[in-house]
Amino acid sequence: MSKKEAKPGEEKAEPESSWKHLIYNPNTGEFVGRTASSWGLILLFYLVFYGFLAGMFTLTMWAMLQTLDENVPKYSDRVASPGLVIRPKSMEIVYNRSDPSQYQEFVQHLETLLQQYNDTEQVKNELCLAGQYYEQDGSEQKKVCQFRRSSLGLCSGLQDSSFGYREGRPCVIVKLNRIIGLKPAGDPFINCTVKGENLLTQYFPQEGRIDRMYFPYYGKKAHEGYVQPLVALKLLLRKEDYSKDLTVECRVEGSNLKNNDDRDKFLGRVTFRVLVTE
Ligand SMILES: *[C@@H]1O[C@H](CO)[C@@H](O)[C@H](O)[C@H]1NC(C)=O
Ligand SMILES: *[C@@H]1O[C@H](CO)[C@@H](O)[C@H](O)[C@H]1NC(C)=O
Ligand SMILES: *[C@@H]1O[C@H](CO)[C@@H](O)[C@H](O)[C@H]1NC(C)=O
Repeated sequence: MSKKEAKPGEEKAEPESSWKHLIYNPNTGEFVGRTASSWGLILLFYLVFYGFLAGMFTLTMWAMLQTLDENVPKYSDRVASPGLVIRPKSMEIVYNRSDPSQYQEFVQHLETLLQQYNDTEQVKNELCLAGQYYEQDGSEQKKVCQFRRSSLGLCSGLQDSSFGYREGRPCVIVKLNRIIGLKPAGDPFINCTVKGENLLTQYFPQEGRIDRMYFPYYGKKAHEGYVQPLVALKLLLRKEDYSKDLTVECRVEGSNLKNNDDRDKFLGRVTFRVLVTE
């Protein structure tokens, strides 16, 4: 910098060589103002520093993970009462029974859901004692109680591959959401009513019962292959019920499960619309 007033002859070479010296100075062996050993120390310092940070992070992460049980969520809803859902996955079962394209999606949903309930799949599972909780707290890998598709009778899709949709008497499958560790007291069953109508309904299994043997559920990982108990509802529509907008409400009853919460209209109950035309 101070060599601005250099001799005219050197004018060209000087700025270039000082620029070069800035990167590498052959006299002192400095590279960008530092010697190799100085660079080495800096490198070592950061290596140790970041290594230490990474170690701290790993250690705290590991310590946190030790407090988690991989089978049970650490934080879960206070309300240990399941919601009710229906299949097909639609709140409006509206179709013209003379037009298969209008109900084939419903039939497909049910068929897909029931694949894992195939009797051929379920024979691999345990034949559990009816009416008893199947508690397996001691064992590592939990066994699964059989729920055979054939127990859904006319709604199993085995005798009638259209699940009653073709004849205009559709089946709807009702199930409780899974809750780890839930053991409903009493004898839960599904009760569906059609608002303002005296419509006949048929349940599979009988009386819409949900057996206690399917509880408790131990979680996705420990309870591999677990199948939820299902209840199928067949709406026995008559001639005069076609083209009528029907509101069906299903509730889980007969147990301590909540079905009447003001804030959550899916807690233990579900409401859907049915309109079948011909
Ligand atoms: C239902 O479908 C049939 C056949 O496609 C048709 O004749 C009938 O008018 C339809 N009904 C209604 C209410 O749309
Ligand atoms: C389940 O059973 C149905 C009807 O018997 C059959 O079409 C389907 O391939 C079976 N699925 C599995 C996964 O076994
Ligand atoms: C189903 O619910 C209806 C309406 O709440 C009630 O009148 C009926 O007694 C219930 N059925 C059973 C079996 O509890």
